[in-house]
Amino acid sequence: MAILVTGGAGYIGSHTCIELLNADYEVVIVDNFSNSNPIALQRVQQITGKTIKVYEIDLLNELELERVFQENSIEAVIHFAGLKAVGESVVNPLLYFEKNLISTISLCTVMQKYNVKNIVFSSSATVYGLPETLPITEDFPLEVRNPYGRTKRMIEEMLHDVYISDSSWSISILRYFNPIGAHESGLIGEDSIGIPNNLMPYITKVAIGELKELNVFGNTYETSDGTGVRDYIHVCDLANGHVAALKKTIEMNEVGIFNLGTGRGYSVLEVLRAFESATSLTVPYKVCDPRPGDVAIYYADATRAFKELGWKAKKSLEEMCKDAWRWQLNNPNGYLKRKKQSTSSK
Ligand code: UFG
Repeated sequence: MAILVTGGAGYIGSHTCIELLNADYEVVIVDNFSNSNPIALQRVQQITGKTIKVYEIDLLNELELERVFQENSIEAVIHFAGLKAVGESVVNPLLYFEKNLISTISLCTVMQKYNVKNIVFSSSATVYGLPETLPITEDFPLEVRNPYGRTKRMIEEMLHDVYISDSSWSISILRYFNPIGAHESGLIGEDSIGIPNNLMPYITKVAIGELKELNVFGNTYETSDGTGVRDYIHVCDLANGHVAALKKTIEMNEVGIFNLGTGRGYSVLEVLRAFESATSLTVPYKVCDPRPGDVAIYYADATRAFKELGWKAKKSLEEMCKDAWRWQLNNPNGYLKRKKQSTSSK
C-alpha cells in the first residue's frame, strides 16, 4: 500500500516525503510543478536511498488523477498541493478558489470513487481570528482575512461535511504555524521565487548578499521588543507531524484537527539575533511600517498533537537558522533549473 502525496515536490511536501520514506512507507507523488521543481524529488531519493513514483498531473484533471488510483494501491492521501501566497490571493481570488478548492473537490471525488478515504490535509494557522488569549488552541474562533485563508477554511468545512455524509472517511486537518529551516543535508529547502514574503528566506537572502537589508515590519507592537512574535517550527519537525497524523488517520475513522507548532513564540529581532549567532554573520536591517494585516503575537498550543498523535516539535531555533543557512549557502539559486515561473511563495 502506498501514500499519495499531492504537492510532494514543494517545500513541506518534499520534507514530508523524506520522513515517510524513512518510516518505510511507499510514496507516490502528484505534482504539477507550478511552484516546485522535480529536482527536489531527485534529492529526496538521494537523501533516503529510496525511490518514489512521480506523476506530473494537475489535480484539476480528474481523468489523469484516476490513472494514479488505478495504477497504485493507495492507502491514504496527504494533500499539500495548492497556492499559498496571501497577497496573490487578494489580487486573484478566483485563481485561489480554482486551484485550491476545485482541485480538492476533484481529489476527494476520485478518492471516494476508488474507496480511499484517509486524508491528511495541509491547513494553516491563518484560519484563526485575532487571538484574545494565548496560546492558540484548536477550538479558538475562526476568522478569514483573505481568499487564501478562506480556501483553507472552506476545505476544512468541506472535509467535515464529507465525513458527516460518510463516517468511513478518516480526516486529519493540520494547522501549521510558521515552518522554517531545511533538511540538515542542505540538499532540499524553501526555494523562494523572487523577493520572499516570509521572514527566514528574506534573512538568508540578505545574509548571502542578494538583498540589501531586512525590512522589519513594525517595532511598536505590544511585544517584548515591539516586533511581531510568531511560532517558528523546523520543517522536519512539521514533516514528522504528518507521519504521526497519517498513522492515526489510518487507524481511526474520525475528523481530527491539530495545531502543529512548538508552543513558543520568537520576535523578529530574536530570530534575527539567533540567525546571526548561529551563522556568525551580520544581517543589516531597518525598521519600516507594520505590514497591513499582520498581528502582534501568534503561537500555538500544541498539546492536542502531543496527547493524541504522540508528536512534539524537537528542534531549536538555532537548528532552524543553521539549516536554513546551509540550504541557502549550498543552493544560492535554489533548484536552478526552474520549469515554470509562478509568483507564489509559501
Ligand atoms: N517580517 C518582517 N520582515 C519581512 C517578513 C516578515 O519583519 O521581510 C515579520 C512579519 O511582520 C511577522 C514575522 O516576520 O511579524 C513573520 O512573518 P512571515 O511572513 O514569515 O509569516 P506570517 O506569520 O506573516 O504568515 C505565515 C504565512 C501565512 C500563514 C501564517 C500562519 O505566510 O500563510 O504564517 O500563521 F497563514
